Amino acid sequence: MLQATMILPLVLTTLVTVANASPLEPNKRLDNGLGKTPALGWNSWNVGGCSTATAANALTAAKAFVNLGLKDLGYSYVNIDDCWANKNRNSNGDMVADPSKWPNGIKSVADQIHGMGLKFGLYGCSGTQTCAGYPGSQGNEVRDAKLLASWGVDYWKYDNCYTPSGNSSGRFMRMRDALAGSGWPIFYSMCQWGNDAVWTWGRSVGNSWRTTGDITNDWASAAKIGAHAGTIAGFAGPGGFNDLDMMEIGNGGLSAAEERTHFGLWCIAKSPIILGTDLSKISASSLKIIKTAGLLAINQDPLGKAAAPFKPSGKPAPVSGKLYPYWAGPLSDGVVIGLIAVDAAATLSVSFADVPGLGAGTYNWTEVYGGTTGSGTSVSASLGLHDMAVFKVTKV
Ligand code: GLA
Repeated sequence: MLQATMILPLVLTTLVTVANASPLEPNKRLDNGLGKTPALGWNSWNVGGCSTATAANALTAAKAFVNLGLKDLGYSYVNIDDCWANKNRNSNGDMVADPSKWPNGIKSVADQIHGMGLKFGLYGCSGTQTCAGYPGSQGNEVRDAKLLASWGVDYWKYDNCYTPSGNSSGRFMRMRDALAGSGWPIFYSMCQWGNDAVWTWGRSVGNSWRTTGDITNDWASAAKIGAHAGTIAGFAGPGGFNDLDMMEIGNGGLSAAEERTHFGLWCIAKSPIILGTDLSKISASSLKIIKTAGLLAINQDPLGKAAAPFKPSGKPAPVSGKLYPYWAGPLSDGVVIGLIAVDAAATLSVSFADVPGLGAGTYNWTEVYGGTTGSGTSVSASLGLHDMAVFKVTKV
């Protein structure tokens, strides 16, 4: 039989356990006021991996945002990926920026970028080391979040290398809570490659979550990531979005048609659009694609619902793992339809009667890449191999 003296410690222990557990509650909503629409920005990794994690590259990208008109279109985050730090923490236990890459430290660069009306992002890892072997934040979450806040870091990409085995959610929640306590608003970009079905709990933890392993600079990779995004569209919403990974536009592995599909799919799937090329060398063709205002407006639509594949009557059903040609999704003021020539050049047509959110009737449409407009009961596009047309459809 339990005596009163035994019950009290039991009650206290239970209370303490509950108090300690609450910061890690999976259902606690992340409500940091950020990421109401997907992040728009740039990241150093797809440009040159480790070698591009420098102050000079961050400032070059920020200047390009202004000079190329990207800032005016809403691109705001200038993010540095892995390899910005020294390999060891200092004697206080803090991460240190590599002085050969950051001669005036991180804060000076963040300040300059803020002075241009832009935001600055940095990369870290939930394990003991980053993927490239720099200090990870495991066990140092609170200390590191405070350091980021003191530097004015606005966006934190948090990776998954050198981690203990087991479900990743606790690790990512620990950094969520550290960022929340840092005193500075920091967009939280989770990068654990779609493990542990992160989309099912991601919205309570981060502002975005990577849905797959790393993108590579080729059509097969973009098509595979796009196909997968169609299966998890319902999990995206204001404050938390599926992150299909950083763009490869401008890096030479995709044709112009493939770059249009890469950008178009990422935009309608409501992925963050994080450019991954050297903006000082981008071609006119690639620049035109990333500046397509109609697609950026769809990506940034306040409703924040991701498009998904739909099967028009008479067309073959989707095949698991394979990119599907017919996509649609709701917008706050209409519906977006995406058509993709997946296997060969093709003329693709859909009747509005078959489109979720529309139904039989006459609607106005705009094809946002070409700017053509019309009115009718269907849309149609003649597309080269791997090209995409994106229609914004509104009530007449
Ligand atoms: C992982 C991430 C990439 C990149 C590298 C850096 O692979 O998924 O996006 O950040 O680490 O080492």
